[in-house]
Amino acid sequence: MIFPRLFSPAEIGSIEVRNRLVMPAMHTNLGSPEDGISEDGIDFYVARARGGFGMVGVGIIDSFQFGHASPGEFVLHNSRHVKVHSRLVTELKAAGTLAFAQIGLRRIWSLHEMLRKPKLSEFSSAEIENWVQAVVDTATRALDAGYDAIDLLGNGGGAISIFMSQVFNDRDDEWGGDEDRRAAFPLAIVRGIREQVSADVPIFFRLHGAEFLEGGYGLDTAMRNADRLARAGVGLFNVAAGGHATTVPNLTPDVPESGFAFLSNAIKRAGVPAQIAASTRISEPRTAEEILRKGWADFISLARPALADPDWPNKAMAGDWDDIRLCIACNECLDSATVREETVRCLVNPRAGRYSELTAAPPAASRKKVFIVGGGCVGLQAAITAAERGHEVHLYEKQPYLGGKWLVSYAPPGREPLAAFLTWLVRRAKTVGVEIHLGTAVTPELLRESAPDEIIATIGATPVLPDIPGIDLEHVVTGEQVLMGQAELGRKVVVAGGGGAGVEVAHFIAKLHELDRNLIAHLESFDGYLAVKDQVAECRRDVTLLGRNRRIGTGLGPATRWVLVHELTVDGVDVKAGHALTAIGPHSVVTTDMEDGKETEIEADSVVICAGYQIDPAALEALRTAAPHLHALGDAKSIGHAMTGIAEAYDLAVAI
Ligand SMILES: Cc1cc2nc3c(=O)[nH]c(=O)nc-3n(C[C@H](O)[C@H](O)[C@H](O)COP(=O)(O)OP(=O)(O)OC[C@H]3O[C@@H](n4cnc5c(N)ncnc54)[C@H](O)[C@@H]3O)c2cc1C
Ligand SMILES: Cc1cc2nc3c(=O)[nH]c(=O)nc-3n(C[C@H](O)[C@H](O)[C@H](O)COP(=O)(O)O)c2cc1C
Ligand code: SF4
Repeated sequence: MIFPRLFSPAEIGSIEVRNRLVMPAMHTNLGSPEDGISEDGIDFYVARARGGFGMVGVGIIDSFQFGHASPGEFVLHNSRHVKVHSRLVTELKAAGTLAFAQIGLRRIWSLHEMLRKPKLSEFSSAEIENWVQAVVDTATRALDAGYDAIDLLGNGGGAISIFMSQVFNDRDDEWGGDEDRRAAFPLAIVRGIREQVSADVPIFFRLHGAEFLEGGYGLDTAMRNADRLARAGVGLFNVAAGGHATTVPNLTPDVPESGFAFLSNAIKRAGVPAQIAASTRISEPRTAEEILRKGWADFISLARPALADPDWPNKAMAGDWDDIRLCIACNECLDSATVREETVRCLVNPRAGRYSELTAAPPAASRKKVFIVGGGCVGLQAAITAAERGHEVHLYEKQPYLGGKWLVSYAPPGREPLAAFLTWLVRRAKTVGVEIHLGTAVTPELLRESAPDEIIATIGATPVLPDIPGIDLEHVVTGEQVLMGQAELGRKVVVAGGGGAGVEVAHFIAKLHELDRNLIAHLESFDGYLAVKDQVAECRRDVTLLGRNRRIGTGLGPATRWVLVHELTVDGVDVKAGHALTAIGPHSVVTTDMEDGKETEIEADSVVICAGYQIDPAALEALRTAAPHLHALGDAKSIGHAMTGIAEAYDLAVAI
């Protein structure tokens, strides 16, 4: 077998687990106030159990309703909830998976309340004792429902992580004041479960390896906390990176693959008497196997990778690892489920949270000839789904290559993991027999001649060029041209457009001639860096970013925006928010302050326009003359992020 460690069995208490792959709990908003968990929620977990995960975590099951709970939260408050959870557990076990319930208190404060930086001292000891009891009582019901193990939410801004925090716990009583007392809350819960619920049910714990926050605790405290908790009865720690307020990104695509596994290794090396799961940005079987080989962990935790591809384990076990639809860390899932409090969504997996994943899309009632116009990610998705259902699918792309704007989206530094989705789409399209016609622009004539039954136009959109003096000058280019390597840039560069694309393009240019950190470390380790440092620095571009709004990076998801905005500062980009580009000269630009109208002249050797994209109605209308029933999708219908277009492409391809 290609990944022998990943697929070696393990023991949790008296239960044999079939492999080392854990899907941890994820708040998906697939719960139900009436039933505790919805039918869609049940399907979601069963699909992952059938996909081969050794252990599947259900939750977070919120134990205490604070008044701002989302209606989609999982709950386990009464006997009806126990019955429905029990049905889920039976199915998970039938699929050969160990089923554990994650319980805890999800949010003491709403996201909105968090803005006023509330403190834990607002609560009385009696309230805190109530919370402990609520978690212990929920654990009792989880065991009644048949769960094999209890997991405690000790991470991600849940109450336990707030109590353990050196920053958020401002109490000075039995629940806070020093490290020992900050650990009292989870310890009281663990002891409560041991006393009231069961002396031997396996207890798991999500632990931060460090707070990664100014004034927060480090790995030394995490090791001591693990030891305290293990001695009280925790048998497995799933080690996450920083908490909800972390200032060190751990979920974005720039985080190196399995970059935070060193935290689990440190906890393991500390001799904590428990098993350890490594977590966070582990997306590929090869790196997962490597962590186990090095002895850095006993289990591998895959949260978003499980969302992206429920069959990750089965595909890895069968050696079809290049068929796995990898998570690209775009964080659309987090933004949908935990920020907007909607049902979870996944950019690369249009079925997640929207369709049952227990079955594939049904075969087409009759085989149709389907034309897809445009080979971007939306067109590819439509082509794949239509072909999977048995249609004869022809995909036309006017360029000699596939990818469309997705090729642009993964060009900025740190966005490279996005490329994996295009690789998957192209491979899958070929596997399912889509006929790909490259270098062929679809014209009304072609449509008339071929008379397809269905036409899906995913022809994308074109960059907007604002009507300002100097826009036609030679040194004015678009962000897309820069990212595709089609523009020569001078020393002083002004990027106009403070939206998501402008921020990414400014970051790209600032980093364009920088050396990779690993290469610098290599040169330094052989005393070679000093000899080249100054000349390398001279290649850097001076970048100014102009944004009309006071807030830059609008359009980026909240889970990503703060990271990119921070990186602009680190890379020395001069950000002028609230400034519009109003004129371009041969060696400078004029900007206008959006508040007081004051004009400023800035030197510029190159001007990069990132003013967004516009639909090309004329191109669509021309195609419609030959095919009035044509469907327009993706950026060709409405400009935005790819997730919506991909979901709509899937929906349409299922309906035709
Ligand atoms: C810098 C940047 C970063 C981005 N980052 C993200 C991100 O992080 N997450 C996200 O979700 N989205 C992101 N996007 C947006 C995302 O890339 C697009 O929404 C998505 O790629 C649009 O896909 P599409 O298939 O609709 O169109 P496109 O990708 O534009 O594809 C259209 C294709 O149609 C072809 N075509 C046009 N006319 C014809 C014709 N007549 N015949 C044949 N072929 C034709 C074109 O050549 C093109 O290949 C980003 C965009 C940019 C510019
Ligand atoms: C949509 C979403 C919801 C999450 N909810 C929970 C949760 O309820 N409990 C928990 O322990 N972790 C939760 N997490 C964090 C994940 O378990 C995991 O620690 C994190 O996503 C990093 O791991 P990954 O790179 O494997 O996704 C959530 C993550 C996502 C994407
Ligand atoms: S939405 Fe993006 S980050 Fe979330 S699971 Fe899917 S690919 Fe991964």
